[in-house]
Amino acid sequence: MPRLPETFAALYGHAPDGVWSAPGRVNLIGEHTDYNGGLALPIALPHRTSCAASARDDDVLRIASLQEESSVEVRIDEVAAGQPSGWTAYVAGVLWALREAGYAVRGLDVLVDGRVPLGAGLSSSAALECSVAAAASDLFGLGLMESAEGREALATACQRAENDVAGAPTGGMDQAAAMHCTPAHALRLDCRDGATSQVPFDLEAHGVVLLVTDTRASHALADGQYGARRDSCEKAADLLGVEFLRDVVGRPLDETLDALPDDELRRRTRHVVTEIDRVDAVVDALRDGDLDEVGRLFVASHESLRDDYEVSCTELDLVVDTAVAQGAFGARMTGGGFGGSAISLVRADDVDRLSSAIEEAFAQARLTAPVSFAVTASGPAQRD
Ligand code: GLA
Repeated sequence: MPRLPETFAALYGHAPDGVWSAPGRVNLIGEHTDYNGGLALPIALPHRTSCAASARDDDVLRIASLQEESSVEVRIDEVAAGQPSGWTAYVAGVLWALREAGYAVRGLDVLVDGRVPLGAGLSSSAALECSVAAAASDLFGLGLMESAEGREALATACQRAENDVAGAPTGGMDQAAAMHCTPAHALRLDCRDGATSQVPFDLEAHGVVLLVTDTRASHALADGQYGARRDSCEKAADLLGVEFLRDVVGRPLDETLDALPDDELRRRTRHVVTEIDRVDAVVDALRDGDLDEVGRLFVASHESLRDDYEVSCTELDLVVDTAVAQGAFGARMTGGGFGGSAISLVRADDVDRLSSAIEEAFAQARLTAPVSFAVTASGPAQRD
């Protein structure tokens, strides 16, 4: 396949000004906590989305992709909720959001090469948004890639693109991961104040592997479910008289739950509160090199997401049950749920046996064959 700059030149009739890229992510723990002002612990994947781009001196965005048939030409001031629709919203939305935030951005010619698996719950959309945001920052001299505060501003614009233009009511974890994660580290992300810290995550030193299994179960039907979970959390916070459910972490849990009117709200709240606690427990266990404890916390997180938050599915449960039965330290669904991917913490020597066991379990259950691959914690959005 021709390289991205050559294809860009053939398409637009001039060379790009540069190529930028950003990673997908898996979240180690802290699921459905970001929109509750909570904690999360993502790593950047080695899988990245690249965009070749050049600045224009008008307000036109021309957007195309090596993987997608559809392309679009739209002016920044025409961008709005649902306009453009489809994948190009993630690109156009970023320029719109940067301008809304007061940055002087103009049009771009963009060609995307998306290498983060789509629909696998690995944040291909955030990777796309953040690669475009990095390009816009550099090409329009915003200087936002050079500091943590600048990267936070870019991540915020990317989240607005997703919420307000693409129409997905997601929290900010995925964009923060793509902007702040560093190689061989997990990112401890405090979603209330945006604070980040780097937690060493070098499994190789322990002879251990993080295995991602894409269940190939689509989570397209879940759009409304994600929003419904978010609404429940906002309702519970309101009833408890706090801004975010994060604000009740540390209070006696029984008293908090007793103050809620129904079982569903109690279970949603219990997930969020216990999950936030598990994030720092995993951080501590990683610092101590206690992988048994990390694995135990992974499983506790999965059970909470399955039983209290109700965002797992047959395929995710099957990966986790099989991995644990085969001797993994632990396993859990990662990302929004209802399909997508699971992660397992596995001894390097056991990876092949475990992957085969998962495939076998799916075949026996007559499910679409899953795809498993080992990942290492990788780097953030950058100019390539
Ligand atoms: C999706 C969203 C994130 C986060 C996770 C669940 O990935 O994009 O903002 O809410 O689900 O932790």
